[in-house]
Amino acid sequence: SADLRCQLGRLSLKNPVMPASGCFDWYPEHDGPFHPDELGAVVLKSTTLQPRDGNIPIRLAETPSGMLNAIGIPSYGLEGFRTILREKWSRLKTPVIASISAFTPEEYAILARELGKEPTVAALEINLSCPNLEHGVIPAQDPVLLRECVEAVREATEAMIIAKLSPNVTDIVEMASISESAGADAICLINSIRGMEIDIWKKKPILGRGTGGLSGPAIKPIALAMVYEVCGAVKVPVIGVGGISRAEDAIAFLLAGASAVQVGTISFRDPLAMRKIITGIREYLDSEGYTSVTDIIGLARTDT
Ligand code: DOR
Repeated sequence: SADLRCQLGRLSLKNPVMPASGCFDWYPEHDGPFHPDELGAVVLKSTTLQPRDGNIPIRLAETPSGMLNAIGIPSYGLEGFRTILREKWSRLKTPVIASISAFTPEEYAILARELGKEPTVAALEINLSCPNLEHGVIPAQDPVLLRECVEAVREATEAMIIAKLSPNVTDIVEMASISESAGADAICLINSIRGMEIDIWKKKPILGRGTGGLSGPAIKPIALAMVYEVCGAVKVPVIGVGGISRAEDAIAFLLAGASAVQVGTISFRDPLAMRKIITGIREYLDSEGYTSVTDIIGLARTDT
Protein backbone atom coordinates (compact mmCIF):
# COMPACT_ATOMS: atom_id res chain seq x y z
CA SER A 1 0.00 0.00 0.00
CA ALA A 2 0.98 3.63 -0.49
CA ASP A 3 4.00 5.15 1.23
CA LEU A 4 3.00 7.94 3.62
CA ARG A 5 6.53 9.09 4.39
CA CYS A 6 7.21 12.74 3.57
CA GLN A 7 9.55 15.65 4.25
CA LEU A 8 8.71 18.80 6.12
CA GLY A 9 11.80 20.81 5.31
CA ARG A 10 14.63 18.98 7.03
CA LEU A 11 12.24 16.85 9.12
CA SER A 12 11.47 13.34 7.89
CA LEU A 13 7.94 12.29 8.84
CA LYS A 14 6.40 8.81 8.74
CA ASN A 15 3.15 10.41 7.63
CA PRO A 16 1.89 13.98 7.15
CA VAL A 17 -0.53 14.01 10.11
CA MET A 18 0.19 15.68 13.44
CA PRO A 19 -1.92 17.25 16.18
CA ALA A 20 -2.54 20.98 16.25
CA SER A 21 -0.83 22.62 19.22
CA GLY A 22 -2.99 22.48 22.34
CA CYS A 23 -5.22 19.68 21.07
CA PHE A 24 -3.26 16.61 22.14
CA ASP A 25 -2.15 15.85 25.64
CA TRP A 26 -1.41 12.24 26.29
CA TYR A 27 2.02 11.00 27.14
CA PRO A 28 3.26 7.71 25.70
CA GLU A 29 2.86 5.92 29.03
CA HIS A 30 -0.63 7.29 29.59
CA ASP A 31 -3.61 5.31 28.41
CA GLY A 32 -4.19 7.30 25.26
CA PRO A 33 -6.29 5.61 22.58
CA PHE A 34 -3.19 5.03 20.40
CA HIS A 35 0.54 5.49 20.73
CA PRO A 36 1.70 8.96 19.64
CA ASP A 37 4.49 7.31 17.64
CA GLU A 38 1.76 6.53 15.07
CA LEU A 39 1.69 10.25 14.24
CA GLY A 40 3.92 12.07 11.78
CA ALA A 41 4.97 14.30 14.68
CA VAL A 42 3.53 15.57 17.92
CA VAL A 43 3.06 19.28 18.54
CA LEU A 44 2.89 20.32 22.18
CA LYS A 45 0.76 23.07 23.76
CA SER A 46 2.42 26.47 23.56
CA THR A 47 4.66 27.33 26.47
CA THR A 48 5.41 30.84 27.71
CA LEU A 49 8.48 32.09 29.58
CA GLN A 50 6.68 32.60 32.91
CA PRO A 51 4.11 30.26 34.43
CA ARG A 52 0.51 31.34 33.72
CA ASP A 53 -2.97 30.23 34.74
CA GLY A 54 -4.68 31.34 31.54
CA ASN A 55 -8.03 33.13 31.33
CA ILE A 56 -11.00 33.03 33.68
CA PRO A 57 -13.79 30.52 32.96
CA ILE A 58 -15.80 29.87 30.87
CA ARG A 59 -12.87 29.08 28.52
CA LEU A 60 -14.41 26.60 26.10
CA ALA A 61 -17.84 26.51 24.47
CA GLU A 62 -19.47 24.39 21.80
CA THR A 63 -21.59 26.36 19.37
CA PRO A 64 -23.61 25.15 16.36
CA SER A 65 -20.85 26.46 14.09
CA GLY A 66 -17.82 25.16 15.94
CA MET A 67 -15.77 25.28 19.09
CA LEU A 68 -14.96 28.61 20.73
CA ASN A 69 -12.03 28.89 23.09
CA ALA A 70 -10.40 31.59 25.17
CA ILE A 71 -8.00 29.42 27.12
CA GLY A 72 -5.24 32.03 27.25
CA ILE A 73 -2.23 29.69 27.22
CA PRO A 74 -1.91 28.32 30.73
CA SER A 75 1.73 27.31 30.99
CA TYR A 76 4.24 25.77 33.40
CA GLY A 77 6.73 28.38 32.22
CA LEU A 78 10.07 27.58 30.62
CA GLU A 79 11.55 25.65 33.56
CA GLY A 80 8.44 23.59 34.20
CA PHE A 81 8.01 22.85 30.51
CA ARG A 82 11.64 21.78 30.16
CA THR A 83 11.24 19.29 33.02
CA ILE A 84 8.14 17.77 31.44
CA LEU A 85 9.81 17.67 28.04
CA ARG A 86 12.78 15.74 29.43
CA GLU A 87 10.78 13.43 31.66
CA LYS A 88 7.76 12.70 29.52
CA TRP A 89 8.42 13.37 25.85
CA SER A 90 12.06 12.37 25.37
CA ARG A 91 11.28 8.70 24.73
CA LEU A 92 9.09 9.24 21.67
CA LYS A 93 10.37 7.97 18.33
CA THR A 94 8.29 10.43 16.32
CA PRO A 95 9.52 14.05 16.12
CA VAL A 96 8.41 16.35 18.94
CA ILE A 97 7.60 19.93 17.94
CA ALA A 98 7.58 22.41 20.84
CA SER A 99 5.41 25.51 20.55
CA ILE A 100 6.38 28.83 22.11
CA SER A 101 4.31 31.94 22.78
CA ALA A 102 5.57 35.24 24.15
CA PHE A 103 4.84 38.91 24.68
CA THR A 104 8.00 40.43 23.19
CA PRO A 105 10.65 39.51 20.60
CA GLU A 106 13.15 39.17 23.48
CA GLU A 107 10.96 36.60 25.22
CA TYR A 108 10.53 34.63 22.00
CA ALA A 109 14.32 34.65 21.62
CA ILE A 110 14.93 33.30 25.15
CA LEU A 111 12.41 30.50 24.68
CA ALA A 112 13.83 29.63 21.26
CA ARG A 113 17.42 29.66 22.49
CA GLU A 114 16.67 27.46 25.49
CA LEU A 115 14.28 25.00 23.86
CA GLY A 116 16.18 24.90 20.58
CA LYS A 117 19.04 23.23 22.51
CA GLU A 118 16.87 20.42 23.85
CA PRO A 119 17.65 17.12 22.10
CA THR A 120 13.96 16.19 22.32
CA VAL A 121 12.88 19.22 20.28
CA ALA A 122 12.88 18.40 16.54
CA ALA A 123 11.45 21.79 15.59
CA LEU A 124 10.01 24.90 17.20
CA GLU A 125 6.58 26.18 16.29
CA ILE A 126 6.42 29.91 16.97
CA ASN A 127 2.88 30.75 18.05
CA LEU A 128 2.59 34.31 16.80
CA SER A 129 -1.18 34.21 16.66
CA CYS A 130 -2.93 33.40 19.96
CA PRO A 131 -6.16 35.43 19.92
CA ASN A 132 -6.68 35.10 23.69
CA LEU A 133 -3.83 36.90 25.46
CA GLU A 134 -4.49 39.80 27.82
CA HIS A 135 -2.69 42.67 26.13
CA GLY A 136 -4.20 41.84 22.76
CA VAL A 137 -1.06 42.45 20.65
CA ILE A 138 -0.83 39.63 18.15
CA PRO A 139 2.51 39.56 16.28
CA ALA A 140 1.01 37.74 13.29
CA GLN A 141 -1.36 40.69 12.78
CA ASP A 142 1.36 43.35 12.72
CA PRO A 143 3.91 43.24 9.87
CA VAL A 144 6.61 45.06 11.86
CA LEU A 145 6.24 43.04 15.06
CA LEU A 146 5.94 39.79 13.11
CA ARG A 147 9.27 40.40 11.40
CA GLU A 148 10.92 41.36 14.70
CA CYS A 149 9.68 38.22 16.45
CA VAL A 150 10.66 35.80 13.68
CA GLU A 151 14.06 37.47 13.24
CA ALA A 152 14.67 37.33 17.00
CA VAL A 153 13.92 33.59 17.00
CA ARG A 154 16.06 33.05 13.90
CA GLU A 155 19.04 34.73 15.57
CA ALA A 156 18.52 32.75 18.77
CA THR A 157 18.53 29.21 17.37
CA GLU A 158 19.55 27.01 14.50
CA ALA A 159 16.61 24.73 15.19
CA MET A 160 13.93 24.39 12.52
CA ILE A 161 11.33 27.12 13.07
CA ILE A 162 7.71 27.01 11.99
CA ALA A 163 5.76 30.30 12.07
CA LYS A 164 2.12 29.78 13.12
CA LEU A 165 0.03 32.52 11.57
CA SER A 166 -3.33 34.12 12.23
CA PRO A 167 -6.32 34.18 9.87
CA ASN A 168 -7.44 37.45 11.47
CA VAL A 169 -5.60 39.59 8.93
CA THR A 170 -6.30 41.38 5.69
CA ASP A 171 -3.40 39.86 3.77
CA ILE A 172 -2.25 36.40 4.79
CA VAL A 173 0.19 36.20 1.87
CA GLU A 174 1.98 39.32 3.14
CA MET A 175 2.28 37.79 6.62
CA ALA A 176 3.59 34.50 5.25
CA SER A 177 6.11 36.27 3.02
CA ILE A 178 7.37 38.35 5.95
CA SER A 179 7.78 35.17 8.03
CA GLU A 180 9.71 33.49 5.24
CA SER A 181 12.05 36.40 4.61
CA ALA A 182 12.63 36.78 8.37
CA GLY A 183 13.96 33.24 8.49
CA ALA A 184 11.08 30.83 9.15
CA ASP A 185 11.77 27.34 7.78
CA ALA A 186 8.07 26.54 7.44
CA ILE A 187 4.70 28.24 7.80
CA CYS A 188 1.74 26.84 9.69
CA LEU A 189 -1.74 28.23 9.14
CA ILE A 190 -4.29 28.91 10.46
CA ASN A 191 -4.79 29.58 14.17
CA SER A 192 -8.41 30.04 15.31
CA ILE A 193 -10.67 32.78 13.90
CA ARG A 194 -11.77 35.50 16.31
CA GLY A 195 -15.34 34.93 17.36
CA MET A 196 -17.82 35.13 20.19
CA GLU A 197 -21.14 33.83 21.41
CA ILE A 198 -23.64 35.54 23.73
CA ASP A 199 -25.91 33.90 26.27
CA ILE A 200 -29.14 35.74 25.52
CA TRP A 201 -30.69 34.87 28.94
CA LYS A 202 -27.71 35.96 31.03
CA LYS A 203 -27.21 38.76 28.53
CA LYS A 204 -23.45 38.39 28.47
CA PRO A 205 -20.77 36.65 26.44
CA ILE A 206 -20.52 32.91 27.03
CA LEU A 207 -16.72 33.03 27.23
CA GLY A 208 -15.30 34.68 30.35
CA ARG A 209 -12.92 36.72 28.21
CA GLY A 210 -15.71 37.86 25.91
CA THR A 211 -14.18 36.99 22.56
CA GLY A 212 -12.29 33.84 21.68
CA GLY A 213 -11.11 31.73 18.79
CA LEU A 214 -13.42 29.68 16.56
CA SER A 215 -12.26 26.27 15.35
CA GLY A 216 -13.76 23.17 13.80
CA PRO A 217 -15.40 22.35 10.44
CA ALA A 218 -16.77 25.88 9.91
CA ILE A 219 -13.27 27.27 9.43
CA LYS A 220 -12.00 24.63 6.99
CA PRO A 221 -12.81 26.43 3.72
CA ILE A 222 -11.25 29.60 5.12
CA ALA A 223 -8.09 27.76 6.13
CA LEU A 224 -7.95 25.90 2.82
CA ALA A 225 -8.16 29.13 0.80
CA MET A 226 -5.38 30.70 2.87
CA VAL A 227 -3.15 27.62 2.55
CA TYR A 228 -3.77 27.53 -1.20
CA GLU A 229 -2.82 31.20 -1.57
CA VAL A 230 0.23 31.00 0.66
CA CYS A 231 1.54 27.86 -1.04
CA GLY A 232 1.55 29.83 -4.28
CA ALA A 233 3.60 32.64 -2.74
CA VAL A 234 6.31 31.10 -0.55
CA LYS A 235 9.05 28.51 -1.12
CA VAL A 236 9.12 27.09 2.40
CA PRO A 237 6.82 24.18 3.24
CA VAL A 238 3.36 24.94 4.57
CA ILE A 239 1.45 23.02 7.24
CA GLY A 240 -2.32 23.20 6.77
CA VAL A 241 -4.57 23.39 9.82
CA GLY A 242 -8.17 24.44 10.38
CA GLY A 243 -11.23 22.24 10.70
CA ILE A 244 -9.63 19.05 9.45
CA SER A 245 -11.98 16.34 10.71
CA ARG A 246 -11.80 13.51 8.17
CA ALA A 247 -9.26 12.13 5.71
CA GLU A 248 -11.04 13.98 2.89
CA ASP A 249 -10.26 17.30 4.58
CA ALA A 250 -6.60 16.42 5.06
CA ILE A 251 -6.34 15.31 1.41
CA ALA A 252 -7.80 18.64 0.24
CA PHE A 253 -5.04 20.53 2.09
CA LEU A 254 -2.36 18.28 0.56
CA LEU A 255 -3.84 18.81 -2.92
CA ALA A 256 -3.78 22.57 -2.22
CA GLY A 257 -0.03 22.34 -1.63
CA ALA A 258 0.39 21.69 2.10
CA SER A 259 3.33 19.43 2.97
CA ALA A 260 1.64 18.23 6.17
CA VAL A 261 -1.55 18.80 8.15
CA GLN A 262 -2.50 19.38 11.76
CA VAL A 263 -5.67 18.07 13.36
CA GLY A 264 -7.25 19.86 16.32
CA THR A 265 -10.87 20.22 17.35
CA ILE A 266 -12.13 16.86 16.05
CA SER A 267 -9.86 15.03 18.50
CA PHE A 268 -11.98 16.32 21.42
CA ARG A 269 -15.04 14.57 19.94
CA ASP A 270 -13.17 11.56 18.56
CA PRO A 271 -9.78 10.82 20.12
CA LEU A 272 -9.15 8.26 17.35
CA ALA A 273 -9.67 10.86 14.60
CA MET A 274 -6.00 11.29 13.72
CA ARG A 275 -5.52 7.55 13.34
CA LYS A 276 -8.61 7.39 11.08
CA ILE A 277 -7.29 10.29 9.00
CA ILE A 278 -3.94 8.53 8.48
CA THR A 279 -5.71 5.32 7.41
CA GLY A 280 -8.08 7.27 5.15
CA ILE A 281 -5.24 9.05 3.35
CA ARG A 282 -3.61 5.68 2.64
CA GLU A 283 -6.89 4.24 1.32
CA TYR A 284 -7.40 7.26 -0.96
CA LEU A 285 -3.88 6.95 -2.38
CA ASP A 286 -4.35 3.22 -2.99
CA SER A 287 -7.73 3.64 -4.65
CA GLU A 288 -6.50 6.51 -6.82
CA GLY A 289 -3.38 4.58 -7.84
CA TYR A 290 -0.70 6.71 -6.13
CA THR A 291 2.28 5.01 -4.52
CA SER A 292 3.41 7.95 -2.35
CA VAL A 293 1.64 10.74 -0.51
CA THR A 294 4.18 13.14 -1.99
CA ASP A 295 2.63 12.47 -5.42
CA ILE A 296 -0.54 14.38 -4.53
CA ILE A 297 0.95 17.48 -2.89
CA GLY A 298 -0.17 20.54 -4.87
CA LEU A 299 -2.08 18.54 -7.52
CA ALA A 300 -5.14 20.81 -7.24
CA ARG A 301 -3.11 23.89 -7.99
CA THR A 302 -3.92 25.71 -11.19
CA ASP A 303 -0.73 27.81 -11.11
CA THR A 304 1.91 25.12 -11.56
O1 DOR B 1 -7.26 29.31 19.75
C1 DOR B 1 -6.24 29.35 20.42
N1 DOR B 1 -6.29 29.14 21.74
N2 DOR B 1 -5.05 29.61 19.83
C2 DOR B 1 -3.91 29.73 20.52
O2 DOR B 1 -2.90 30.00 19.93
C3 DOR B 1 -3.88 29.53 21.96
C4 DOR B 1 -5.12 28.96 22.53
C5 DOR B 1 -5.32 29.47 23.94
O3 DOR B 1 -4.68 28.91 24.86
O4 DOR B 1 -6.07 30.42 24.14
